[in-house]
Amino acid sequence: MTSKGQTTMNFGATENRLKKRTIKGGLLITFEGGEGVGKSTQAERLFRKLDSYGIDVVLAHEPGSSDLGNHVRRWIKRTNSPSPLSETLLFEAARAQLMFELIQPALGNGKIVILDRFIDSTIAYQGYARGGDIKTIQRLNTIATTGLIPKLTILLDADPELSLARVSNKPNLFDAANKNQGIRVDNESERRFEQAPLKFHKKVREGYLKMSKNDRRWCIIRADQAGHRIADAILKRVRRLLIKNGIAPELLQS
Ligand SMILES: Nc1ncnc2c1ncn2[C@@H]1O[C@H](COP(=O)(O)OP(=O)(O)OP(=O)(O)O)[C@@H](O)[C@H]1O
Ligand SMILES: [Mg+2]
Repeated sequence: MTSKGQTTMNFGATENRLKKRTIKGGLLITFEGGEGVGKSTQAERLFRKLDSYGIDVVLAHEPGSSDLGNHVRRWIKRTNSPSPLSETLLFEAARAQLMFELIQPALGNGKIVILDRFIDSTIAYQGYARGGDIKTIQRLNTIATTGLIPKLTILLDADPELSLARVSNKPNLFDAANKNQGIRVDNESERRFEQAPLKFHKKVREGYLKMSKNDRRWCIIRADQAGHRIADAILKRVRRLLIKNGIAPELLQS
């Protein structure tokens, strides 16, 4: 072969090495749990890890990862008393848009999609915590997602007293003086759900635990551990899933 041929072969090898690994039909992994349990921290950590393995991965969060989602988030935060149904419909509209803009194309291209909150957040918040009809929310979830169910859902579980203190400017927020009130007080006065009574957050937690019971889609991880331990537990579970879906174990080293 001429040197030209050699160059072509080298280029081909490089291209092959740079080509990100995909899975036919893609794969959806979601992070769920109450406020401050570490969803965004761990979702980003997993994204970086999979990316470092050379896997084609995208990360998005609900409801913010689309223009409509950002509008919905802003509107919901500044509204005092939306009905559970209108709130649900707005989240579902943002979800349908995210499906259209990002999730479906990414899965169609064989990517791993990591979502920071998805369908189960609506059931936990607008259903279990706000009292919306759960069957109706499930139906709306199905419509918004055309029935897409995550392959794996990581539930980061912690007592809301601990997780809310993490996202508060006042670590002793739930001390004896205001424990009964359970209201979050910080500079971000517009963060409505975080300001809801502690009782609300306990209902969110119970809702998640109920949903995840006896369902193999869920992986429940205690969120009151050091971040690196949580990350290790998540990675162990995700590795298994990837190998089951045809990713070579050698790719997933360290
Ligand atoms: N395992 C951990 N131990 C202690 N602090 C943590 C841990 N994981 C995350 N944090 C801290 O807790 C805070 C909340 O974390 P993060 O934003 O990831 O939670 P979240 O579940 O995404 O919250 P939100 O529901 O508000 O989006 C951050 O300040 C983060 O650095
Ligand atoms: Mg977050």
